Amino acid sequence: MPRPLYSEKGDHIESKAPVRVSRYRGITRLNHWVTACSLILLLLSGLALFHPSLFFLTGLFGGGQTTRWLHPFIGILLFFSFLLLFLQLWRLNLPKPEDATWVANIDEMVKGNEEKLPELGKYNAGQKFIFWAMSGLIVVLIVSGVMIWEQFFDGLVSIQTRRVAVLVHALAAVSIILVFILHVFAAIWTRGTISAMTRGSVTGGWAWKHHRKWLREVAERQKPAPSGTGPSGKEPAE
Ligand code: HEM
Repeated sequence: MPRPLYSEKGDHIESKAPVRVSRYRGITRLNHWVTACSLILLLLSGLALFHPSLFFLTGLFGGGQTTRWLHPFIGILLFFSFLLLFLQLWRLNLPKPEDATWVANIDEMVKGNEEKLPELGKYNAGQKFIFWAMSGLIVVLIVSGVMIWEQFFDGLVSIQTRRVAVLVHALAAVSIILVFILHVFAAIWTRGTISAMTRGSVTGGWAWKHHRKWLREVAERQKPAPSGTGPSGKEPAE
């Protein structure tokens, strides 16, 4: 949408601020940060319980026993907050034919030659991979976590199954930490992305460069609706 050059009062607007495009609603951002904080607290409390050399981390939670009962409850919080994100975003993360071309030419993306890649919707294949990896690992963590949650589920599974569940839980935890590092690295590396989750918007240039198909869809939604056909969709759907 072109910016008006004059305000309603008739003053000339000489703003150099780039046009911004809405990407996430406030409620989605709030939920995303609940998810992020839960995962950070989970990895700190989980590491504290994982190895005696990391036991000192229990100090952050008020001691060993508190850490032990708190950790699974934070896991429940992560599960439900991520579930909300999942329900909102899973369709946008479904694979598309252009994802294969994007992956095959990922070196062009790294070199900054995104002009040579197909136009993308809201997410690229890397973001989609992270989304599905997080979804799968959170399910594995919650299922294996319940199996080893003695306080409420003692005797739910046999001792042999419990041993396997402990191993699976630890492997899934290490994997999600790696995926988390990748997610944060990608968000920082692609300049201008963090504001999507802090301000809820990105610059028009960012959207044009990285997610042009999505930008076209947003522009289409923002066209004034013919009278009587409802809102013109100025807010992002997610
Ligand atoms: C300090 C930690 C984190 C930072 C800085 C961060 C940053 C971001 C940013 C900037 C976006 C917007 C990307 C875009 O719209 O292109 C995003 C999206 C997202 N983040 Fe995070 N995030 C963090 C932690 C997490 C955690 C722990 C999870 C889940 C366990 C998570 C799950 C998601 C999901 C599902 C999306 C939507 C992307 C998609 O659906 O593919 N984030 N994050």
